Amino acid sequence: MYMNKIDDLKERKKVIALGGGEKAIEKQHASGKLTARERIAMLLDEGSFEEIDAFVTHRCTDFGMASKKTPADGVVCGFGLINGRRVCVYAQDFTVLGGSLGEMHAKKITKIQDLAIKAGVPLIGMNDSGGARVQEGIAALQGYGEIFARNISASGVIPQISVILGPCAGGATYSPALTDFILMVNNVGRMFITGPDVIKTVTGEEIEQETLGGARTHNEVSGVAHYMSDNEEECFDCIRELLSYLPQNNMETTPEVACDDDVNRLCPELDTIIPEQANKAYDMKKVIESLSDNGTFMEYQPLFARNLICGYMRLDGKSVGVIANQPNMMGGSLDIDASDKGARFIRTCDAFNIPLLTLQDVPGFLPGSAQEYGGIIRHGAKMLYAYGEATVPKITVITRKGFGGSYIAMCCKALGGDLVYAWPSAQIAVMGASGAANIVFRKEIKAADDPAALRVEKIKEYEDTVANPYVAGSLGYIDDVIVPSKTRQYIINAFDMLSGKRVSTVSKKHGNIPL
Ligand code: HXC
Repeated sequence: MYMNKIDDLKERKKVIALGGGEKAIEKQHASGKLTARERIAMLLDEGSFEEIDAFVTHRCTDFGMASKKTPADGVVCGFGLINGRRVCVYAQDFTVLGGSLGEMHAKKITKIQDLAIKAGVPLIGMNDSGGARVQEGIAALQGYGEIFARNISASGVIPQISVILGPCAGGATYSPALTDFILMVNNVGRMFITGPDVIKTVTGEEIEQETLGGARTHNEVSGVAHYMSDNEEECFDCIRELLSYLPQNNMETTPEVACDDDVNRLCPELDTIIPEQANKAYDMKKVIESLSDNGTFMEYQPLFARNLICGYMRLDGKSVGVIANQPNMMGGSLDIDASDKGARFIRTCDAFNIPLLTLQDVPGFLPGSAQEYGGIIRHGAKMLYAYGEATVPKITVITRKGFGGSYIAMCCKALGGDLVYAWPSAQIAVMGASGAANIVFRKEIKAADDPAALRVEKIKEYEDTVANPYVAGSLGYIDDVIVPSKTRQYIINAFDMLSGKRVSTVSKKHGNIPL
């Protein structure tokens, strides 16, 4: 008798595991997608998944729903391990009513969110859904609202990762948008507030789904997403790598792995990386890769605002968030998109106790009416605010240019850089020497017999007087001028010195970051 009950249980679970059934699974595979359970199995350490709420189903009786079965109500929830560390996970099952979200589907998601928050473990949500379950009406909207509320209360407490592996449209997009990271698979995931049909009706514009809200669009153009992969397997590898840099929650310290790269390793290539001419570019990624343990670097939003590089590296085995101007792209200037990207990255690191390394070579904020009308003042302020409020250890290395407001925005001493180093090639000034000479010596140059020659002379005079690291050094605005090849030693030492950093902040409800 008892064995019959066990057999019955097994049979029930077998049926549930089939989701919407063989045909729907075939359709899912034919459209180039894995099923929810296949996805979870591929993401987690083998055999580690424990499902909860498999028996939950809908309780709607309208529109013929009374006779409709919705195994697991279209979302698979549970917990498991990634690289031996705990995570909670949910995956919408498109084979069951298009993964649409009704009352009970939403309750399952909020339950796993609550569990992840309580347990202090990262939550990974896989989105593949036709949106609000039309038959369930406003119960679905209430469900979304409850999910969003938990996304907000979990923010800054546990890492929240959203994966877009199918449609994610309308208000449903706001759950991923409220999380820390969005990953999309090219030609599979799509996100938009209104689809092509609505757009055509309302505005007359004709646009394809992929161009409107595909992975490339959101990784390259809108900046909504953070990582793009060519297929689901690559996407799950990306999640596993990302988690290796993150703590389980905001109470944990920076993750650490064994380091076999000498902390005193010299980086001789850095002594010659800065070109002789100030307006010549070089690749800042090479600096990052020279400095980090064995070249480790996982770039954040690699396709968006490429004039500012953000990402995770390891120094002496510990995670460090790096923010660096990229002279190879728009001269490394800061524009609206770079400011948004940088500010968000800094806040993500600060929330999860990941120290910050800033590599500064910045000629200024990008000039022009497009930037001004777009609100570069308000967007640029986010960078200042994010650095200023961050309490993790902050180390800045000025490799070359540090001009004007952008010098401040890239974590100078005044904004809270705990230790600020400059290379001998650094030029710290209100603006570049040629611009400054034009302003300061304008009358003399104009009146000269040979204005061009005097201009060159005055530029040199300005450079010698101001545009070097020693004026800042003499005033204590930087802590030292260092030999570039020794930078790895310096920053590892500095982070080690700052590892016990504690900051008391003024009590307030919350700050008011410019948005
Ligand atoms: C109920 C749904 C559904 C939904 C899909 N299905 N979306 N059922 N509510 N929202 C069902 C289909 O009826 C079908 O059931 C099965 O899922 C598979 O869908 P298909 O259409 O066959 O799949 P496909 O051709 O791949 O098209 C996928 C799709 C399309 C583009 C997502 O299904 C679609 O346009 N769905 C409606 C999208 C939508 O308008 N959603 C509401 C948005 S409003 P059967 O039984 O035939 O297999 C919203 C508000 C949220 O979400 C607000 C939050 C604040």
